[in-house]
Amino acid sequence: MRILLAGHRGQLGRALMPLLMEAHDVRGVDLPDDDITDRSAMLDLARVVAPHVIINSAAMTDVDGCARDPALAYRVNGMGTQNLALASADVGAEFVQISTNEVFDGAATEPYHEWAVRAPINAYGRSKLAGEWYTENLLNRFYIVRTTWLYAAGGRNFPHRIIELADQRGALRVVEDEVGSPTYVDDLADAIVKLLETHAYGIYHLVNEGTTSRYEFAKVLLRHSGRESVPVTPISSSEFDRTSTPPPYAPLANTAAAALGIRLRPWEDAVAAFIDAAGYRR
Ligand SMILES: NC(=O)c1ccc[n+]([C@@H]2O[C@H](COP(=O)([O-])OP(=O)(O)OC[C@H]3O[C@@H](n4cnc5c(N)ncnc54)[C@H](OP(=O)(O)O)[C@@H]3O)[C@@H](O)[C@H]2O)c1
Repeated sequence: MRILLAGHRGQLGRALMPLLMEAHDVRGVDLPDDDITDRSAMLDLARVVAPHVIINSAAMTDVDGCARDPALAYRVNGMGTQNLALASADVGAEFVQISTNEVFDGAATEPYHEWAVRAPINAYGRSKLAGEWYTENLLNRFYIVRTTWLYAAGGRNFPHRIIELADQRGALRVVEDEVGSPTYVDDLADAIVKLLETHAYGIYHLVNEGTTSRYEFAKVLLRHSGRESVPVTPISSSEFDRTSTPPPYAPLANTAAAALGIRLRPWEDAVAAFIDAAGYRR
């Protein structure tokens, strides 16, 4: 197949690109060369490449930046997705939209299923909800893949920050009242490739199994990397100054993909793989 992969230089894109290239022709789309907010450029590109599938992993993922500039967040995450969805419709391609747990309000008491009601509480979540809306209203053959707390060896992400701070400061303070499903991009990329083979279009939650708080996540990272002696103090999110408000409890439950036989391993196993890949094990 021919595939257009938007966001191929991002965390998930870098994991997806080599996997997809094992069996497909893949054309990457990312800044600074290609901008998904340029509608005519996306349409022209789709007409030249004539992809069978367009995957949109490009996004403005700086949630605090989205809070500071909601219009830009909407332009990239909402209208950028609209442009790629329109390009998919034009060339008859399947479409994969990568979305987020931040479309939910975080007031739940158990992990969100695929059918939960969306009610974002911040600018990033509202812009990603717009991306979902364009996908489901402009297309028939689409997958919306929601995921949470992504991390990759080499990306800018929570696990790298925790290990760096542990090494620099020797002690950590980590938020205890924010809960999610940490998800390793290598596992997510594998699952997306499997999902593409099903043609079972719809909404999916692809996350490593299980839930945890930021605090517990940090403790597990330190334990697996041989830094368990670094003390970690649990703090409340009210003590941690942020521009964007994350949904406090927003792990995702994989029900729909599991019914197709697609599951990601437990999150603690994935952390161990990450520690090895990043060379952090002592
Ligand atoms: N990271 C998470 O924890 C998380 C959690 C849930 C869902 N997601 C979703 O998962 C997907 C992948 O996330 P990720 O962590 O791989 O993100 P990432 O590392 O920030 O990668 C996103 C890529 O998109 C590019 N991009 C931004 N604006 C663009 C534009 N206008 N045109 C073309 N490319 C553009 C970025 O370039 P620049 O770096 O130059 O801006 C970057 O290379 C996103 O849809 C995100 O919303 C992420």
